Amino acid sequence: MTKKLEAAPGAALYPALLDADAQRQVLAAVRAVISEAPLFAPVMPRTGAPFSVRMTNCGALGWVSDREGYRYQQNHPETGRRWPPIPPEILRVWADLLPDAPPPEACLVNYYSGEAKMGLHQDRDEQNTGVAVLSLSLGDDARFRLGGTTRGSPTQAFRLRSGDGFAFGGPSRLAFHGVDKVYPGTSTLLAEGGRFNLTLRRVR
Ligand code: SIN
Ligand code: FE2
Repeated sequence: MTKKLEAAPGAALYPALLDADAQRQVLAAVRAVISEAPLFAPVMPRTGAPFSVRMTNCGALGWVSDREGYRYQQNHPETGRRWPPIPPEILRVWADLLPDAPPPEACLVNYYSGEAKMGLHQDRDEQNTGVAVLSLSLGDDARFRLGGTTRGSPTQAFRLRSGDGFAFGGPSRLAFHGVDKVYPGTSTLLAEGGRFNLTLRRVR
């Protein structure tokens, strides 16, 4: 039975959504994605300042950021190849939690080394914001921050552990969110340490 903790209207934390075995299976699927679509180092629009995370994608569309802006595209920015499909282990989690939603088109894979973080932002490059965003975490714990739909609104912090899910839809679909920090050494799932976060989204 999946435990669900309401975080805000439309937003929920699913602690220990994936057990140890499921985490290993999803991790193996993520590694296979990365072997086809290597992690790349995105930069911020205009300034070219590097993100502290490295990223890749699977699915029909992948989210990228470069000097030109943020966008979804069908191809890896470095290899030029199509993104690999979203692995079935990952699609199954979406279908379990969001049975009424159409399948995700994009799965962004972010890798956080010990020092990486992610500033507060909205996920708003999708034409379809009627479907929730689902995040899955693997590896070291992180402090995830969720605010409201305006930048200045108060925020709440959640510790996301390996195997946790977090969904935000409805009135929270455009909520600001980010990652303050990861807690190195809190999980043994990744031999190299650090954290993977997958965000699954419907784009169109
Ligand atoms: C994101 O918003 O893209 C990532 C969230 C997370 O790493 O938990
Ligand atoms: Fe995000």
